Amino acid sequence: MTSDAAALPCLARIRPDIRAMHAYPVQDATGLLKMDAMENPHRLPPALQQALGERLGRLAINRYPGAETGALKSALAAHAGLPPGWALMLGNGSDELITLLALACAQPGASMLAPMPSFVMYPLAAQLHGLAFHAVPLAADFQLDEAAMLAAIEQHRPALLYLAHPNNPTGTLWDEGALARLAEAQGRHGGLVVMDEAYQPFAARTWLDRVRQNPAAHGHVLVMRTLSKFGLAGARIGYLMGDARLIAEIDKARPPYNLSVLNIECALFALEHAEVFAAQAQDLRAQRAALMAALRALPGVTAYPSEGNMILVRVAASGQPLPDAAAAQRVFEGMKARQVLVKNVSTMHPQLAGCLRLTVGSAEDNARMLAALKAAL
Ligand SMILES: Cc1ncc(COP(=O)(O)O)c(C=O)c1O
Repeated sequence: MTSDAAALPCLARIRPDIRAMHAYPVQDATGLLKMDAMENPHRLPPALQQALGERLGRLAINRYPGAETGALKSALAAHAGLPPGWALMLGNGSDELITLLALACAQPGASMLAPMPSFVMYPLAAQLHGLAFHAVPLAADFQLDEAAMLAAIEQHRPALLYLAHPNNPTGTLWDEGALARLAEAQGRHGGLVVMDEAYQPFAARTWLDRVRQNPAAHGHVLVMRTLSKFGLAGARIGYLMGDARLIAEIDKARPPYNLSVLNIECALFALEHAEVFAAQAQDLRAQRAALMAALRALPGVTAYPSEGNMILVRVAASGQPLPDAAAAQRVFEGMKARQVLVKNVSTMHPQLAGCLRLTVGSAEDNARMLAALKAAL
């Protein structure tokens, strides 16, 4: 028994696997330029800040959320172009939707499959809800290993197949044909596919276009989005779209008032001003191209192609044969000493050894980040 458990015996009532876990690390960014979490660098323009403040002030926060939930669903459906016959459900960020999906599918023997490295919440949700998690390594260039994925689908027949479209932390937008073949294989044994489009504002395509072309083939495919990268990370709005019959079942696992009236009103307001956020996303795509060009000109840095608002870089140390984690840690610390916080993903997966993930920010933020990186290399 640990000394904590001796002093507080009820700790033993918490599942041992949870007690053995590390909490999700949120880095302290006090005083630092925050380039670690793919946030939109732009705040609301002052006039909109004031208008939003007044609107929030008028809300009936003494009441549980009511009609505004339906209004937000309609606004998001129009924003995304929800395919006919599809419905959407809301999550407190897509993190909550990932948890609810695992909860809803947690039957004896059920499992989840995803290529890795990918978003850390998939295996975490699987673990928390007792689903086996099957990870299939990406190919060396972070592309899908289609043959290995097909074999794993065949072998494990997972309840849930997660495909981040594009992927975090690599930024890769995987081959459309390969994704279609994986989705089809998953459908053949009656499994679900989740296309996680968290980075959709920065990506060249959306899976919804394929759904619209052939709805009959997509009854088992869910498309998940968030307003976090759009510019509302603090408001916590995720949404899951799929065949209305499927969404109706998953939605039963959702706590009835999971989004506050404040989140909802922020989202409604933002969608009324969607053109402001669309212009910001367009600017960030241009900044991504400029940042990529600057990174590729740096000796000792490999920058991977990205369709998200992040760029994964490998910082070569000795360069032999795999850049070591110590090199990434040294560069990470060097950048932090220069007040720039990025994400060191080097120890998250063997294929990420030596890698840092850089958020794409404004031109000014990116210039500061590049200067810190150069100095730290
Ligand atoms: C691929 C992917 N999906 C989902 C999320 C969760 O987004 P949120 O919970 O902010 O909606 C993230 C966050 O970084 C992500 O990278």
